[in-house]
Amino acid sequence: MEQQSFLPVDLSVLRIDTLKPFDIYLCQKRQNYVLYSSKGTYFTSEVKEKLLQNRVHTIYIPEDDRDLYQQYIEDNLQNIIQDNRIVSEQKSKIVYDSSRYLMEKLFDNPNIDMIGRTKKTVNNIVSLILSDTATTNHLIRITEYDYYTYTHSVNVGVFSVAFARNLLQGISEKIFYDLGLGFFLHDIGKSRIPLEILNKKGPLNEEEWKIMKTHPEQGYNILKESGFITRDSAIIVLQHHERADGSGYPQRLQGDRINLYGKICSVADVFDAMTTKRCYQQAFSAFDTLNVIRDTLLQKEFDKDFFEKFVQLFGPEGMRVM
Ligand SMILES: [Fe+2]
Ligand SMILES: [Fe+2]
Repeated sequence: MEQQSFLPVDLSVLRIDTLKPFDIYLCQKRQNYVLYSSKGTYFTSEVKEKLLQNRVHTIYIPEDDRDLYQQYIEDNLQNIIQDNRIVSEQKSKIVYDSSRYLMEKLFDNPNIDMIGRTKKTVNNIVSLILSDTATTNHLIRITEYDYYTYTHSVNVGVFSVAFARNLLQGISEKIFYDLGLGFFLHDIGKSRIPLEILNKKGPLNEEEWKIMKTHPEQGYNILKESGFITRDSAIIVLQHHERADGSGYPQRLQGDRINLYGKICSVADVFDAMTTKRCYQQAFSAFDTLNVIRDTLLQKEFDKDFFEKFVQLFGPEGMRVM
């Protein structure tokens, strides 16, 4: 029999009096997993109490039930985010892992249903970033740097929303939700770029670049077809590769013709791309990346005040750049 694999989950994730759509296993000595509670049963305060009395803080969910667990997290994310008994570090990990998994599924199949689910999760993350600085700081720190587009999308989403919060005053929460969707989905057009180009190990040739550069417009089309598009989210998807000197794409917009929301996303995008390991490129540290951005883009692309608000996201270590 093939060995079943399990996902460790902190007990605090489970909400009292919710129906669990997945099985729960406990892990005994020597990686011996035992079924504790079947799917379709309620998780009650008595069950939780009993587990805690037995010093169980981590439960295990079979990999086969991963999608059911993901849906459960999405359905209960607002409740989890508002639960002040879950410590910030833990909370940021739940939010990061589930949004990464969701984004991976979205890129596999960017249909209306998946974009709707993403919209709901992004709204919850935006609320979190606007209201909970401690968890947001953890979220910024735990971002991982692999070369996957879905990880990049979550990182840029988190950086951009937090940056927009630092930068923009007097903007309604509703606009932040629209911006959030644009930031998290800025590269959704890459789901229509052939994988051999997207995953190519090495620099792209001219023809491949031409195709790659269609992703902002493709992303705009996907959003438009889904019905979730707004003016602000469209601007972000379309303008995140425009550059003030007119060297960007797709429209070669110059200077002030680039919207502030597009600029916010482009800084986060450059930052995340540079801190990412690639087979042909060493990853830069956050500090080195901020230095390079300062040396190459300050004045040319944006002013000091704008950049300082971005650097603030990385705490005292980041501020050393200024
Ligand atoms: Fe992009
Ligand atoms: Fe990007």
